[in-house]
Amino acid sequence: KKYDQFILTLPEYTIKHARSSAMQDLKYRQYRQYQSFWFTPDRMLPGIMAAQDHFIPRASDILICTPVKVGTTWLKALAFATLNRNDQPGKQSLLLSHNPHHCVLNLEFNLYGSNRMTDLTVGTSPRLLSTHIPCQLFPTSWLSSGCKFVYLCRNPKDTFISYWHFVNKIMKDVNYKVPLGDAFDAFLKGVHLAGPLWDHVFGFWNASLVNPDKVLFMKYEELKSDTAVHLKKLAEFMGCPFTEEEERDGVLEKILDMCSFESLRNLKVNNNGTATTDISLKFGNDAYFRKGEVGDWVNFLTPEMAERLDQAMQQKLNGSGLSF
Ligand code: A3P
Repeated sequence: KKYDQFILTLPEYTIKHARSSAMQDLKYRQYRQYQSFWFTPDRMLPGIMAAQDHFIPRASDILICTPVKVGTTWLKALAFATLNRNDQPGKQSLLLSHNPHHCVLNLEFNLYGSNRMTDLTVGTSPRLLSTHIPCQLFPTSWLSSGCKFVYLCRNPKDTFISYWHFVNKIMKDVNYKVPLGDAFDAFLKGVHLAGPLWDHVFGFWNASLVNPDKVLFMKYEELKSDTAVHLKKLAEFMGCPFTEEEERDGVLEKILDMCSFESLRNLKVNNNGTATTDISLKFGNDAYFRKGEVGDWVNFLTPEMAERLDQAMQQKLNGSGLSF
């Protein structure tokens, strides 16, 4: 509530298709620009502001940081299963009965956006948390806290297509589809959750170059093409490397298997949409699982659209050593 008045003073963007008053209730129709990034003004933006004001990372914390629709659900599952492999081995894993977003809570939506701040003071160490907040918006104390940041991003064309499908899926209650062109125009302007994507990626890329021990930078495509290698890197980075014995016993393979797209999607909790904690999602858990493929954009974007999105990304990343 404290931030509501201030949020009303921020620059606003309403997606073209949803400008009429009949569309007032559509989710993801209106965005506000805060510190050069775009967010929805309901729970997300107040949650971000409250997190900036109150979240105090511990040196032992591990924060999963992502733009939206880049494989956050998968990364949460992999990190959670890896960290908890001794406490919750095999069938005892919470991941089999809870959506990964319930196992790894998000700062701005689940914790600071829902007045559940006290949750942060209890629980195990290391705390595994997540956020979509761009690192340019991190208070300096977060970066110097000693806490570790695991970043995942994805080809911008697949990220956009995944976002467009997600928004349409969670609006299925109102049976409305955002025209692809309107969503694309907004995305190119950087208007989407925690956008512009290129600035989000650029910020964490630089942070990983400055502080590689504290910021692990990963891409969805690389994680897909050799998940085992990247899972080992992740485990090392989180301070819990797989032992030779564990590798011999197939512990790593079991985690890969449990967290695969097919395994997670087919779990009852992820396909019947039942929320298993008090975090109320306004959509079913199945919205987090669509195709899980690399390059699906080709089925939706014209070559001209693809070129424009590539150019926008390239302009920002030029000379950075990073490309998609
Ligand atoms: P698609 O829409 O391209 O299928 P996020 O978790 O950040 O919301 O990202 C969602 C994207 O990750 C979706 O992409 C989804 O299908 C994909 N995804 C979810 N779980 C996955 C998994 N276990 N392995 C690979 N991709 C996964």
